Amino acid sequence: MSAQQSKILAIIGQGYVGLPLAMAAVDAGWTVIGIDNFSAKVEQINGGSSPVEDISDTQLQAAISRGAYKATTDFSAVAQAPVVTICVPTPLDDKREPDLTLLRNAATAIAPYVSNETLVVSESTSYPGTLRDIIIPIINQNKPKDSKSIYFASAPERVNPGDAIWNQKNTPRLIGAIDQESQKRALAFYGSICDAAISVSTPEVAEAAKLLENTFRLVNIALINEFTQLCSTSGINVHEVIDAAASKPYGFMPFRPGVGVGGHCIPVDPLYLTWWARQNGNKAAFVESADSINHAMPKYVAERAMSMVGANVKNPKVLILGVAYKSGVSDVRETPMSALSDYLKAQGAVVGWHDPLVPVWEESNPVDLDWECDVAIFATNQPGIDLTELFSKGIQILDCTNSLKGQVGVIGL
Ligand SMILES: NC(=O)c1ccc[n+]([C@@H]2O[C@H](COP(=O)([O-])OP(=O)(O)OC[C@H]3O[C@@H](n4cnc5c(N)ncnc54)[C@H](O)[C@@H]3O)[C@@H](O)[C@H]2O)c1
Repeated sequence: MSAQQSKILAIIGQGYVGLPLAMAAVDAGWTVIGIDNFSAKVEQINGGSSPVEDISDTQLQAAISRGAYKATTDFSAVAQAPVVTICVPTPLDDKREPDLTLLRNAATAIAPYVSNETLVVSESTSYPGTLRDIIIPIINQNKPKDSKSIYFASAPERVNPGDAIWNQKNTPRLIGAIDQESQKRALAFYGSICDAAISVSTPEVAEAAKLLENTFRLVNIALINEFTQLCSTSGINVHEVIDAAASKPYGFMPFRPGVGVGGHCIPVDPLYLTWWARQNGNKAAFVESADSINHAMPKYVAERAMSMVGANVKNPKVLILGVAYKSGVSDVRETPMSALSDYLKAQGAVVGWHDPLVPVWEESNPVDLDWECDVAIFATNQPGIDLTELFSKGIQILDCTNSLKGQVGVIGL
């Protein structure tokens, strides 16, 4: 069977996006080659140990033992696949601007192996124009001479790690391709994996929609974080206000305050938007303001926690409970708990942390829950944090998760 006819999928990047996509494709009857340039991760995956929470070892091992999936560092495997998806990180650089180095590297690495009639799809989040202006030129310049027809589309991933309901299969997928034939092929591919594949007119629409989705979350979280501080000053319980507002059956969507935003998406993607706006001579002032508000939250939380400690305690011991950026995941990328810890230390605190899903963080080990502390900050509601001992000792807890309502000694944000 030729590469054009076979149901072989190559996925570049085997992380939070690429590995779940691989398993969804296996479930849909595809044979998947997961290509990643991090050899330790490839070894781990081929050894049957999943690096992401949403994929169990059992599911991974079953796919490997059936011969339906394998991971590799060898990009030449792309030559076997009529469909190639790119799922590599798109982070920020030191100036907090888009860093497409990994995406360019991935495009450069696959280009020599892209066979004629291959469909190349970018799932990585980026600003409008990334597929057309960056990925396509790299591949066209470096592809084999006889690969005359290559099809290109953008289908930004929307996965929400740790979500028990929404996954690759049942989350509708946006698809914007560079021409009709590419669109047709991309729709057929995603139609084989997802319940709904939605056509948009260009890759730029798909890329912009992804930025809008995550910017929508960023600004609404910022709004509620700011609103929380206004309520707190007046002694109003913000969660009661949010619940009350959410009783309106239309036109309102509840967001909750917290230590800030984290992970690879919400703090990052809106800055792709602000950068893109600047390139076009515009200014996304509203988004920049939201980013600043969220960035100020760790300082606000640190100050609130320190105010709960008696003035006579010189170097209070503060326990941070949950350091992953959200509940149910081990992901500490861009976690706001880093800034929280820094602000606490800057104010003279001795900081300990505990997170059942995170074994090591910022080159330090967690403390046990019997660690003697003056105040605790319940920063992320991780499963498996047992607060019985803290309650029995009468330790005050600043609850940033709205999950300890009504407990004695607990103060909400
Ligand atoms: N994590 C999420 O919740 C999420 C959700 C939707 C979209 N996205 C987007 O999907 C993309 C991937 O994010 P992720 O969270 O899966 O990242 P990740 O860090 O979990 O995984 C990316 C993988 O790509 C590998 N990699 C990096 N450069 C490579 C290269 N040149 N060639 C081959 N492999 C390479 C890394 O080793 C890593 O294993 C990003 O653009 C992100 O914004 C992420």
